Amino acid sequence: MDYNKLWDNLIRAVMTCTNCQLCKTRTNSVPGEGNRDADLMFIGEGPGRDEDLSGRPFVGKAGQLLDKMIEAIDLKREDVYIANIVKCRPPGNREPNEGEARACLPYLRRQVYLVRPRIIVCLGATAVRYVIDKKAGITRIRGQWIERKGYWLIATYHPAALLRDPAKKYDAWEDFKKIRAKLDELGSKPPRQDALMETDGDE
Ligand code: URA
Ligand code: SF4
Repeated sequence: MDYNKLWDNLIRAVMTCTNCQLCKTRTNSVPGEGNRDADLMFIGEGPGRDEDLSGRPFVGKAGQLLDKMIEAIDLKREDVYIANIVKCRPPGNREPNEGEARACLPYLRRQVYLVRPRIIVCLGATAVRYVIDKKAGITRIRGQWIERKGYWLIATYHPAALLRDPAKKYDAWEDFKKIRAKLDELGSKPPRQDALMETDGDE
């Protein structure tokens, strides 16, 4: 099936999803956004209030800090893909529970498969728990490269944690410098197989 159709189907499925209880309290689902061909993908925890209202990931205070950090490594928000573990806001911004996260993870896996980023950055403990290692603590695991299935995984502090505790910004900046260096080392990925076969330039 056509690549854009796969994306359309995925976004539509998330918008109308009722696979967990978070559907009952959401205003909007927040599927994710950005460059669908990105080399770099960020994974957060789940939508907060601003995201729930707008349907877009990382647009509140934490999102503005994330934008600045992306710009500090000479990228723009539009260059990267941004997604979350759960696509609907947990009430009161509590952490998603395991059932909610497990119900939602197939969407994230699909996004990773479609974007095929070189590097996946887990922002904070929830992303680490479900993407890298169930038992790893963010403080211990942050800044360490893990290569898995052709992807380079790394964790850093969630920008909301940096807002609560600015002393963590030094370590986060070290992590972002490592990410910049790895991107430069890896270079851009080759084009998708199906893109090679497209003749009418319809995307
Ligand atoms: N925090 C997250 O984890 N994700 C968002 O999209 C916004 C805030
Ligand atoms: Fe569906 Fe995920 Fe929203 Fe739960 S959080 S309703 S699984 S999209």
